[in-house]
Amino acid sequence: MKRSWINEAEIFSKNFFAHDTSGHDWEHTNRVRNQAVEIARIEGADTELCEIGALLHDVIDEKFHSSKSEGELVVQAWMTKQAIPEKLQTNIISMISSVAFQGGNNQSPPSLEGAVIQDADRLDAIGAVGIARCFMYAGNKGTPMYTPGQAVRESMSEGDYRDRSAAAITHFYEKLLLLKDLMNTETGKKRAEVRHERLLTYLDDFYSEWEGTT
Ligand code: ADP
Ligand code: NI
Repeated sequence: MKRSWINEAEIFSKNFFAHDTSGHDWEHTNRVRNQAVEIARIEGADTELCEIGALLHDVIDEKFHSSKSEGELVVQAWMTKQAIPEKLQTNIISMISSVAFQGGNNQSPPSLEGAVIQDADRLDAIGAVGIARCFMYAGNKGTPMYTPGQAVRESMSEGDYRDRSAAAITHFYEKLLLLKDLMNTETGKKRAEVRHERLLTYLDDFYSEWEGTT
């Protein structure tokens, strides 16, 4: 792996997400990169593969393209421009094409490196940063922070569920609190436990302040 490919991937991803307001700004990718490299070191995965994969993991995501294959084509075209060998290109594509929570349909990622990147991406959705991203997302969509009685999916109307207009707190129950059980690596699991506790503490604090009991 050439260091210059990683540097170019950083520039590519930075430009790609320059104007993002969907919770996938460049800083998200940068945190996932740092987290992935850290987990890779501990788990004995290939740190450079994890680094370039993390840098490209959202560029390939189908929600930023008209289809899954369109996302893959964009990343592939960029790699070809960088003269990255074909075998490595195939490796990178398969490593990151199943990272997304939804896009991947919960399939296990194919390699240890894919598993590390997926863990790093999921960790960024929980804990203190995850909470901040959740409220930023809700603010951006113009949805409320909390609608009493709408904390769980069963209590939401089908329409609310589909157009994701439910309150930010609902999203904790829909996704954030489920992530710790979806971690792949031991390191990811340990880190998710810590961040999961932060979500629970936060919810306790939130409800007690909402009710005015503290
Ligand atoms: P990913 O790319 O990790 O699959 P999403 O596009 O689902 O993530 O979400 C990006 C960020 O926005 C995450 O931090 C996620 O928790 C948050 N988010 C997604 N959907 C909602 C929602 N309905 N309400 C609040 N936050 C959300
Ligand atoms: Ni991501």
